[in-house]
Amino acid sequence: MRTRLPGPWKRQPERPRLPEVTAPPACAPPPALPARAELRRRTTRVLSRGGRWNPDVLLVEVAGRSMVVKDFAPRSAWVRATAGRWITRREVRVWRRLRGHPAVPRLFGSIDELAFAVEYRPGRHLSRRTAAAGLPADFGDRLAEALVQMHRRGVVHLDLRHRSNVLVGCDGQPILIDFGSALVFRPRGVGARLLLPLLARVDRRALGKWRRKLARYRREEAAASPGGCSGSGRGASLPT
Ligand SMILES: Nc1ncnc2c1ncn2[C@@H]1O[C@H](COP(=O)(O)OP(=O)(O)O)[C@@H](O)[C@H]1O
Ligand SMILES: [Mg+2]
Repeated sequence: MRTRLPGPWKRQPERPRLPEVTAPPACAPPPALPARAELRRRTTRVLSRGGRWNPDVLLVEVAGRSMVVKDFAPRSAWVRATAGRWITRREVRVWRRLRGHPAVPRLFGSIDELAFAVEYRPGRHLSRRTAAAGLPADFGDRLAEALVQMHRRGVVHLDLRHRSNVLVGCDGQPILIDFGSALVFRPRGVGARLLLPLLARVDRRALGKWRRKLARYRREEAAASPGGCSGSGRGASLPT
């Protein structure tokens, strides 16, 4: 019997094999989420202070477990009642769809309508010159594979060019974060068949940018210190 596979889940034409993006180590059960009332007390660091329209991004610790919380609560009442709720709901949908994606931190859950928590994965911003030092030679291919896997799940990121949305994990693996601009398509839906392939190009263009940038960093590094590999802690998503 012929099996019909939907749009992006359809069997893809043969393409060169890319390296496996390996899953993070053992999955412990998700930690208990902080109650709204204790969120500020549990915050150990503000990773990013949102502007008028963006959430604060907080590093929060509960019972020895670290998590990143995106929180719209400090925004104006109007933003909270409109964009804050809407963006949070949309972003949680995306994170949920990407559960189990090895390059995407785990969704821990929603705290309320304005905040949700994900796994904290320490890493450096790929945009930093120092992050390129010591990267596996096939990092670009790993990132490409992470995008392929994301698109197969019906998600386009759309903001991967931004300097802070691709991290390099301690193990040299890519980490994708910040799905605030992402779109998720219903499996078998018209959007998944027609729009997703077009929008996926935006992500692939960002990949091209990162490949070129890394190649340039490598050339410059090789010219400056032949055979050397330096890596200071700058550019990490947390103090190193
Ligand atoms: N899951 C995570 N693990 C580690 N660091 C993170 C994580 N999520 C966010 N960060 C850090 O917080 C910064 C801001 O988060 P992000 O989701 O990009 O929000 P925004 O760009 O809206 O400020 C990131 O650039 C990164 O340094
Ligand atoms: Mg960001």
